[in-house]
Amino acid sequence: MNDHVDGRAEQRGTSLADQDEAQLGGPASVLVRQKREHIKLSHLLDDLERTSGAEQDRVLVRIYRLVFPHAFAEESVLWPVIRRELPDGEALTLHVEEEHQEVNELVTRLDGETLDLTERRELLDRLVTVLREDVRDEEDVLLPGLQQQLSVPQLRQLGVAWELVRRTAPTRPHPMVSRRPPGNALAALPLTVLDNLRDLCEVAAHRAPRSAPALASVSHTLARAAGRVERIGPMRRGERELTSLQNR
Ligand SMILES: [Fe+2]
Ligand SMILES: [Fe+2]
Repeated sequence: MNDHVDGRAEQRGTSLADQDEAQLGGPASVLVRQKREHIKLSHLLDDLERTSGAEQDRVLVRIYRLVFPHAFAEESVLWPVIRRELPDGEALTLHVEEEHQEVNELVTRLDGETLDLTERRELLDRLVTVLREDVRDEEDVLLPGLQQQLSVPQLRQLGVAWELVRRTAPTRPHPMVSRRPPGNALAALPLTVLDNLRDLCEVAAHRAPRSAPALASVSHTLARAAGRVERIGPMRRGERELTSLQNR
């Protein structure tokens, strides 16, 4: 994967980092909603780097719960608009979709494989790097580009749509699912239901440790069901070769 989006150095308006909320269109604007979550993520990544053991695991779960619905809503609501509005929207969105795909694959490995300390450290370092690059690409290139094309009312409408999808999106990695419509749109409902049930199992296990083994087995069954959903043909429709798991 390239480290930066093509033409990143090219001036595309002002980075979101250098604009205040009024300049970005007010609280409802998609630009303000994005920037707020990026700041939250940056603090969590700082926490991840200075913690270890069980405390670090808890930070990691908070990062997953923030990042996966956020990215899923970008892929289904924002990137199609960028592909329509920006002449190089196809290349720009493909690059951030590659970053999102790598995050899905890194987290799948972190959660599913038996890793020694060095391997885990390497995967976490890479996860932090990719997430920070993804934020910079969006705040410095894609979103200022969108700001130049849309009016403030349009940025607010897009903000409401993005927020609605974000609140009902899957909360876990799904590397087999297409990063683009229509596959991701078809997969959203069943995967969100299964992810939310797994999240409930985790909360319940935390509150009632004696039930934890039974709940872990329920969660495992739900994870297998999600894996089967991901492999259904239509869920992969729209995928580009560069973000397809089979091509890695
Ligand atoms: Fe974002
Ligand atoms: Fe993103």
